[in-house]
Amino acid sequence: MNHGFPEGFLWGGATAASQVEGAWNRDGKGLDTQDCRSMPAGLTREQKNSWEFKEMTSEKLAAAIACKDEGTYPFRWGSREFDRWEEDLDLFAEMGMKIYRLSVSWARIFPNGDDAEPNQAGLAYYRRVFEGCKARGIKLFVTIQHYAIPVHLVEAYGGWKNRKVIDLFVRYAKTLFENYGDLVDYWLPFNEINAGRFHPFNGVSLIRDREENFDQSVHQALHHQFVANARVVALAHEMLPGVPVGCMIARFCHYPATCRPEDQLQCLHDEQYTNWYYTDVMMRGYYPAYIDRYFETMNVHLDITDEDRELLAAHPCDFVSFSYYFTQVSTIDEGWEKTGGNLVVASKNPYLETSEWGWQKDPTGLRITLNQLYDRYHKPVFVAENGLGATDVLEQDGSVHDPYRIDYLRGHVQAMRDAIEDGVDLFGYTMWGIIDLVSCGSEEMTKRYGVIYVDADDAGRGSFDRYRKDSFYWYRKCIATNGEDLD
Ligand code: BG6
Repeated sequence: MNHGFPEGFLWGGATAASQVEGAWNRDGKGLDTQDCRSMPAGLTREQKNSWEFKEMTSEKLAAAIACKDEGTYPFRWGSREFDRWEEDLDLFAEMGMKIYRLSVSWARIFPNGDDAEPNQAGLAYYRRVFEGCKARGIKLFVTIQHYAIPVHLVEAYGGWKNRKVIDLFVRYAKTLFENYGDLVDYWLPFNEINAGRFHPFNGVSLIRDREENFDQSVHQALHHQFVANARVVALAHEMLPGVPVGCMIARFCHYPATCRPEDQLQCLHDEQYTNWYYTDVMMRGYYPAYIDRYFETMNVHLDITDEDRELLAAHPCDFVSFSYYFTQVSTIDEGWEKTGGNLVVASKNPYLETSEWGWQKDPTGLRITLNQLYDRYHKPVFVAENGLGATDVLEQDGSVHDPYRIDYLRGHVQAMRDAIEDGVDLFGYTMWGIIDLVSCGSEEMTKRYGVIYVDADDAGRGSFDRYRKDSFYWYRKCIATNGEDLD
């Protein structure tokens, strides 16, 4: 039996370019899809978390493209890491972080996505940051697409539903491999690939009012991402032998609400359609049989070529990763009470407490998830995101007391240790978002995840100065003792 975390376990933190960098139009960066998500002043928290607010429309997109300043677009300022990356890396090093998971902004490298040549200033920015990590002894886990894509690809190509975007993505990935192959330790083609289903604009850059059969477009676009993923795995294996490439989903662990067989069946279906389908394609290399019934009920008929199937089969990923924030229950009872979740509405579990945003905190679900993933694929597993969004208070003396975050992290670290002792080959954990950043779902800075506080409000006002929270010191001790001292 394993005891505790293995030597060399990769403790780290995660961010995404669109949420942390800012500098949306600097050094030649093009406008991207996240730059176009607005947060008008005066909305209540309920409104910010409503689907009406989160969903992109053609009208909203046109207004965003016309807006030439930061306006009410929080992803245009983020946490201003573009200007403060050295300070941030110093803080990560002080914490003893072993690995930083960050994403590259596609529009910083290819401003329109289909440009003849990459933007040299964008390439230089990431080289500085990546070399800065290496100089501080921090390994790199790089996401190639974390939601944002150049907006030109939406306007001129219709986003991921267009097969041509596969070639553009592969060329972008190749550019990254050529430029940073010597620096990056782990590559991830897509953040939460299942987002295509639960947030189609973020995941596959689709706008509902432009589609005739929305489900068809979503799943065809997802198929293109699966093919792109396989081609990028193939390319990495050829260009960067020995460098692992992973896949990732937002893992929504479900429990049957009761022991009624129909609830159990619902649970199986929810697990298949929201979780397993995606990792099955990318880890096993083929479309699972259960998905045909799902497609038929939605009138979805995919265009999959023989070559696509061969690519998927020949190039599965080397490891499986996921984001984990909450769990939910599955039931056939339509009146079952609801609560919040990442860009989704979840069914309530009476045994769990929720965060301020209604997300159900469940460390045991993480242990279950880790066991399930390892049992199914027998490949190394990585927790790519996990953390607590909460309102924090910056005290006069610059301290931030966040015992609730420490509790949350402690529970999840213990669950990972238990899973390792269950025999799971878990090799790393990148806490989300290691530094406060703009929330992806509700676009609030004040939904804070960091162990580092950023002095800014939802409208982008503030000094953007960084402060160490109590959880910063807790995480530093956790890392220093390899997960042994969690007090
Ligand atoms: C994940 C995303 O779904 O959850 C992140 O990969 C996101 O981009 C994180 O920020 C937390 O969600 P939210 O909506 O609270 O920011």
